[in-house]
Amino acid sequence: GNGERDKLVQAHELAAKLYHYLLMNTTHGQPALHYLRSRGVTDKQIDQFQIGYAPPEWDTLARFLEKREFDSALMEKGGLLIAKQDKSGHIDRFRDRIMFPIWNRDGKIIAFAGRMLGEGQPKYLNSPESMLFNKSRNLYNFHQARAALRKNRRVVLFEGYMDVIKAWSAGVHNGVASMGTSLTDEHAALLQRSADDAVICYDGDNAGQAAALKTIPILEKAGLRVQVALLPKGMDPDEFIEQHGAHAFMREIIEHPVSATKFKLLYAKKNHILLEEEGQKNYLLEAVRIIAVLDSPTEREFYLKELSREFDMSLDSLKQDCFAQRQQLQ
Ligand code: UTP
Ligand code: MN
Ligand code: MN
Ligand code: MN
Ligand code: MN
Repeated sequence: GNGERDKLVQAHELAAKLYHYLLMNTTHGQPALHYLRSRGVTDKQIDQFQIGYAPPEWDTLARFLEKREFDSALMEKGGLLIAKQDKSGHIDRFRDRIMFPIWNRDGKIIAFAGRMLGEGQPKYLNSPESMLFNKSRNLYNFHQARAALRKNRRVVLFEGYMDVIKAWSAGVHNGVASMGTSLTDEHAALLQRSADDAVICYDGDNAGQAAALKTIPILEKAGLRVQVALLPKGMDPDEFIEQHGAHAFMREIIEHPVSATKFKLLYAKKNHILLEEEGQKNYLLEAVRIIAVLDSPTEREFYLKELSREFDMSLDSLKQDCFAQRQQLQ
């Protein structure tokens, strides 16, 4: 019931305070603090995103919550604790991890993501779904992004926690992340209520670019206008900001997204060997198929003209192929 939900939120809020205190004020937290600083996360960001540290012991949080008379079974249901195998009690789910609280849209902490201090699997351990936390409805940082969204109705979508945090300090206050799951129709519906435009800024690796391609129609179906901000090959936003700085990130990446159609064309191009005749023809036909789905004749002509210039083809033949493709769509 509501009582259980309130209790669980209360436990998450207290846990976040405990983790944050342990990070900032204890020798236990020092390696985690150094790790964060080595990645360029400032104390200001640590405070704003309430980043913390879960120590390596088995029962730091379990004892803390027990002392405050929280019901262990409920804490287990909410994902903070896990039952010992012999059922003799509970232990902490998160141990020796950097803790990122996850908020709901009202700014209440409803889950955590815990990152390892170095390399290893899983890199991030997330709270399981619970009566509070539904991954397909929740977006990381949506509660803070809302203020910016009210002003410009434009949202920036990232893959990860560190991307959102670094981008915030670079000046992107409208950034959210879907936390490792693909963006759902529910996410898109939530965003559509606060935004008209979406800029996808996923990692510049193959996985990130493939995810961007899949995300475009989900956002468009919900009624958002979609653009894609491209990163250099293999780099994610957090790495770009570390290497090139906030200014370059804003000027070169965030402020110069390409249209969804342009992104699809660039993505398709990578799959063809343009130095070969067959590759060139196949790309041209695939490009025409991408352009053919556009509703506006002006937009279609815009991209067809680009193609005709790029490959020295007559606009007329491209238009004919495009028309044939549109017939097939119906
Ligand atoms: P990435 O692998 O791109 O991680 O996954 P990252 O965000 O760049 O992480 P850092 O910079 O190394 O710390 C993107 C997102 O996918 C989710 C997380 O939300 C992560 O931010 N993910 C990734 C998980 O949930 N679990 C994992 O083990 C890995
Ligand atoms: Mn603090
Ligand atoms: Mn990635
Ligand atoms: Mn990444
Ligand atoms: Mn990263």
